[in-house]
Amino acid sequence: MRRVRRAYYDLFSRFYDKVIALHSKDIAGELRGFLSRQISVQKGVPLLDICTGTGSVASRLRRDHETTVVGLDFSQGMLNKAKEKDSQVLWVLGNVTRLPFKSECFGAVTCSHAFYELKGQESLWALAEARRVLKPGGTFLMMEHEMPTHPLVKALYYVRLFALGSLNAARMRKEEESLFGRFFEKAERISSPTGKSTLLIAVKGGRDV
Ligand SMILES: C[S@@+](CC[C@H](N)C(=O)[O-])C[C@H]1O[C@@H](n2cnc3c(N)ncnc32)[C@H](O)[C@@H]1O
Repeated sequence: MRRVRRAYYDLFSRFYDKVIALHSKDIAGELRGFLSRQISVQKGVPLLDICTGTGSVASRLRRDHETTVVGLDFSQGMLNKAKEKDSQVLWVLGNVTRLPFKSECFGAVTCSHAFYELKGQESLWALAEARRVLKPGGTFLMMEHEMPTHPLVKALYYVRLFALGSLNAARMRKEEESLFGRFFEKAERISSPTGKSTLLIAVKGGRDV
């Protein structure tokens, strides 16, 4: 099943940036800036973007924070597109359920518009792994679309989750803060300036970053 999902993302990678551009008219660019501004780490502390896709968030983080940025995804197709975009980010093929990094090495981990495409158990492992690789005091930032309110768009949203085998995720969204509270000492949700996306900021206890 995971192979099928990877093949889906490999195929989608060919159109992904065009679809996003059509859909957002650079709202996506603004959102990436908004996400990046919430990160504050000491100079040189590395950052990780999981489910990086074609790498737009990772690339933005590298430019804004002038530090080592790693972008991880399990789709080689997505990573190929990301490499064309930015050769200075370290692109890593891997699964969020088992991150190929040592513990406590990143100041922040980001995940943009992808968390709810993970299947139930996968999202729990991803949270545990994000916590493991974060330095004490580090933050996990998860950006997602607001739940659609228009009935048709809402129906399409659920169809997409169903197609990805992620219907469980729709239920999890309702209990987001308490879910994140199981893995992190503090979790709060803020709205993007556009009001169309939300950012969940979860902090690991301690004070290293
Ligand atoms: C909707 S795209 C989001 C891409 C990017 N974060 C953005 O904001 O444009 C979801 C990405 O998550 C990746 N992905 C899904 N499940 C994954 C997993 N278990 N491990 C690693 N990457 C995964 C897919 O390959 C895809 O690139």
